[in-house]
Amino acid sequence: MEFDADPWEPATVAVVGAGYVGLTTSACLASMGHDVTCADIDPEKIERLRNGEIPIVEAGLGEVVVHAVAADRLRFVVGAAAAVADADIVFLCVPTPQDEDGSADLSYIEAAARQIGPVLRPGAIVVNKSTVPVGSARVVERVLQRSDVSVVSNPEFLREGTAVFDFLHPDRVVIGGDDEAAARAVANLYSPLNTEILITDAASAETIKYAANGFLAMKISFINAVAAMCEAVGADVADVIEGIGSDHRIGRAFLRPGPGWGGSCFPKDSRALVSIAADHGYDFSMMRGVIEVNDEQRLRMVAKIARAAGRDMALDLPLDGVAIGALGLTFKAGTDDLRESPSLAILDHMAAAGAEITAYDPTTVGVLDRVQTDRLGTLRLANDALGAANGADVVVILTEWPEFAELDLDAVARVMRGCSLVDTRNMLDPGSVRSAGLDYDGVGRR
Ligand code: UDX
Repeated sequence: MEFDADPWEPATVAVVGAGYVGLTTSACLASMGHDVTCADIDPEKIERLRNGEIPIVEAGLGEVVVHAVAADRLRFVVGAAAAVADADIVFLCVPTPQDEDGSADLSYIEAAARQIGPVLRPGAIVVNKSTVPVGSARVVERVLQRSDVSVVSNPEFLREGTAVFDFLHPDRVVIGGDDEAAARAVANLYSPLNTEILITDAASAETIKYAANGFLAMKISFINAVAAMCEAVGADVADVIEGIGSDHRIGRAFLRPGPGWGGSCFPKDSRALVSIAADHGYDFSMMRGVIEVNDEQRLRMVAKIARAAGRDMALDLPLDGVAIGALGLTFKAGTDDLRESPSLAILDHMAAAGAEITAYDPTTVGVLDRVQTDRLGTLRLANDALGAANGADVVVILTEWPEFAELDLDAVARVMRGCSLVDTRNMLDPGSVRSAGLDYDGVGRR
């Protein structure tokens, strides 16, 4: 449905959850002129936020928070009930982790709805911003037990690392709800952004979020599969991307080959898409294939690294005694998030194959406990890239931090024991790596 904005008026807003979505939503709505109270169950996090400390790495977020707090348009409180009493509109931005069967776990949303139900103002609007299965608006309505309160869905499309920019410059805002007046009221919050606002029913809005993430994951799996084919037939994936990307129906975006997609959204949402479809009697086999290609991609990277070390993956403990210098642990650059990081999955496989790993990541220096898994018990952390390369048989770039593009390759070659560099992000110029005396392997590059 097309949307014509009403004359703009600031609203009183509460946001439940101060994670990267909740905090970004709070700070950006406040910066647009709304009056925002942001709540979290973690008293320590709220204390830090009140002191101006931002608990995550997110470009520009600190400045927006500090500015909004100083303007008295943003405050932080402990507990959902404390935030919502005066609010016209309440955003739910709590996690929807994944259950063992791939379905989304709604317990945080339900708990938040239970807490706010008795305290909401008459006529308040509750907005689901968390990524929730189709039909969740109804679940929230049931838990709230308030016939005078409307529930709408307003999925977020924020990338970690550029969340503030994405919030303030969206390609579109999607609002789904059966109560048109409530949907319009939520749409009006965004009218200063001058963006396309799409109003749909709740089920369509919830589906849009999963379909968007599923499609993007599909693009990456597709190009990773094409990169594998390029390696097999002797083609170059960069030329292939140029050739297909200039077709405006395809485009160049989201076609960077790499170690596979990870993070807090794509893995969870792609599995949820399969699970939701199955619950409704549809076998989303294409999405299963997209996930399978992504799992294979990690193993392909491990096999590449073994080859670079001169080892055969068919052997028992194929990387026994091999020293790996790993560059990058986060699931992508610009964030400190390690959730479902392809880098950690690849290191896990290599550790299980007997490799000795020294890793460096610009955001995780000195916080070994954050990256310890059962198998990564032996992982050592270095203070810089050269420290990770020191004594390594193979250096592997796993996350595309810009500083890795500036590596002093002669210095890397000098401190290594071996002479192989595997670049899973295609960041480096192969010629420059070879000039430094190192063997180079990327993804799908000739
Ligand atoms: C994603 C969506 O982009 C965002 O709209 C949604 O709301 C949340 O999930 P995010 O998880 O922050 O955002 O990361 P994104 O930048 O989309 O990257 C996801 C993964 O795909 C990363 O592991 C990244 O390295 C990988 N990727 C991305 C590629 O391998 N190639 C690409 O071309 C793009």
